[in-house]
Amino acid sequence: MYRTHTCGELSLANINKQVTLAGWIQTVRKFGSITFVDLRDRYGITQLLFGEELNKQLDETALGREFVLQVKGIVSERTNKNPNLSTGDIEIKVSSFSVLNKSVTPPFTIQDDTDGGDDLRMKFRYLDLRRNAVKKNMELRYAVNRAARNYLHENNFMDIETPFLIKSTPEGARDFVVPSRMNSGQFYALPQSPQTFKQLLMVSGYDRYYQVVKCFRDEDLRADRQPEFTQIDCEMSFVEQEDILKMFEGMIRHIFLSVKNINYTDKIDVMTWEDAMWNYGNDKPDIRFGMKIANLKTAFKKDGIQARGELINDAGFAVFDNAETVVAIAVPGAAAYSRKQLDELTDWVKRPQIGMQGLVNIRYNIDGTYKSSVDKFYNEEKLKQIAAFCHANPGDLILILAGKEEKTRKAMSELRLELGEKLGFRKNNEFKLLWVVDFPLFEYSEEDNRWVARHHPFTSPKPAHIEVMINNDPVIHNAAEYLKHPYADIKANAYDMVLNGNEIGGGSIRIFQRDLQEKMFTALGMSQEEALHKFGFLLGAFEYGAPPHGGIAFGFDRLCAILGGSESIRDFIAFPKNNSGRDVMLDAPSTIDDKQLKELSISIDKKSPATN
Ligand code: AMO
Repeated sequence: MYRTHTCGELSLANINKQVTLAGWIQTVRKFGSITFVDLRDRYGITQLLFGEELNKQLDETALGREFVLQVKGIVSERTNKNPNLSTGDIEIKVSSFSVLNKSVTPPFTIQDDTDGGDDLRMKFRYLDLRRNAVKKNMELRYAVNRAARNYLHENNFMDIETPFLIKSTPEGARDFVVPSRMNSGQFYALPQSPQTFKQLLMVSGYDRYYQVVKCFRDEDLRADRQPEFTQIDCEMSFVEQEDILKMFEGMIRHIFLSVKNINYTDKIDVMTWEDAMWNYGNDKPDIRFGMKIANLKTAFKKDGIQARGELINDAGFAVFDNAETVVAIAVPGAAAYSRKQLDELTDWVKRPQIGMQGLVNIRYNIDGTYKSSVDKFYNEEKLKQIAAFCHANPGDLILILAGKEEKTRKAMSELRLELGEKLGFRKNNEFKLLWVVDFPLFEYSEEDNRWVARHHPFTSPKPAHIEVMINNDPVIHNAAEYLKHPYADIKANAYDMVLNGNEIGGGSIRIFQRDLQEKMFTALGMSQEEALHKFGFLLGAFEYGAPPHGGIAFGFDRLCAILGGSESIRDFIAFPKNNSGRDVMLDAPSTIDDKQLKELSISIDKKSPATN
């Protein structure tokens, strides 16, 4: 037997017991004629004591870090206890030992505060995974997985696998494609999600489906995006939006309770997309803090109403007078910011990623006076009115951005988040959930001058908007005025779950009638032939008694990262890719040899950078 116990389980209750342990050597400390070794495994660290008799043998073996060691010995009470270790009251008085395998010196220390940089840790990810910090993330991931599965199982959901080699139908992100040897010149695609399969399963009568499943998207990467990631993918039949929200609120509360021991009893607010954009400039607002946007002037319409700029226009300040949109936030207690701090904020909004021309400020001093960078144009009375409009309190700093609608609103959203972070309003141990609903069904694609599905083409329009979709020509004759096209106002039966300003899940009630699905494809500029070629299987299935259905998919990696208090999903994936989509451990992607290429009837363009 290699071991009788793990390195994390022995305590005073086991005193005088004869045990066998096996694990990795974390440290070796020699004190004269005795030696202490910390032995580590997945469960913890146990101190080993090698007495005088064994020391000679030890000298010959020269134990090193990360050697795999097996020891036999007696559990003894320590004189020098370590309250930070679960095994800190005991040590093993070693009677014999055996080196099961040696290790070369690891490239970084396998400790919480490792000296290894990101690249090195990724190259030797199997060593990085030995570190406690990474192990904790893996454990959290498994706990979330288990909690989700338990909840779904209890609620009659059935885990059904769907294929990875499917048909390429890019809509949204690019597909990863796989050449077929047996079908020369033809390609499979890896699924961006099991969307159409889960809908087909509804047609088949499996009315509650789920899968913890890999999805593949060839898109630009960020901290919260990987080319292959995992979804908790779910679908239900005979449901309306309300039913889905209720079921998955239940799931997320269950996950909070079982994984974080948080009894999340707050009501989960349901916010319309319009409200989210209007108040936060963002469709996934972080509602852990206020600082809502004040719409001084906009091109955006909420409930059909637009802010016209009465408060700020015609003061001779061209930046505001000529802007499409002027938005403001009141930053609590920031009126005391120094000149330098204000300059830094201005530089921040001028960075290329934000791209604004400048930042206007009004200090609403604690004594009730005003000081502004635009004093010249707005007298104290006017500044007072603006401050009131922004719900500012004495001591607040009002920050104003002006420019084109979309860019300005987005920039203000970013500025709000940045300041929220700076002011400590975004604590990663505080959680706030939110539903965002009533998204637009379509988005305008400038590149193709057509409508694209904002979520995906299987999302149903709000019942009241179906007629608008059917009775209007989707063609956009005047690109500059696309917002005036009737399609711009069509809302979808779609919903996102947002946690601390991150979209952790999204879904919709689906179209389940063939004719409406065909109309949707037409609206997206697809010819009948193209629709049949790409989605004939689904249109066909809808003719055989498709039930009303809807679903949702959670970004499993994202959910784990947020619950673990991290920005980056990579920390929660055992073997992640880097920001260029590379696996630096495997050195993938890589070229393949000519024989493989020939079998696949593929020739590589010699100008391609990978072959140079
Ligand atoms: P959607 O595309 O919104 O919906 O994806 C669902 C959730 O998956 C997560 N996510 C990602 N996580 C990591 N890396 C990525 N590249 C990535 N892309 C998305 C997000 C997102 O909320 N089939 C539909 C769901 C449905 O309609 O039921 C879908 O895939 O957290």
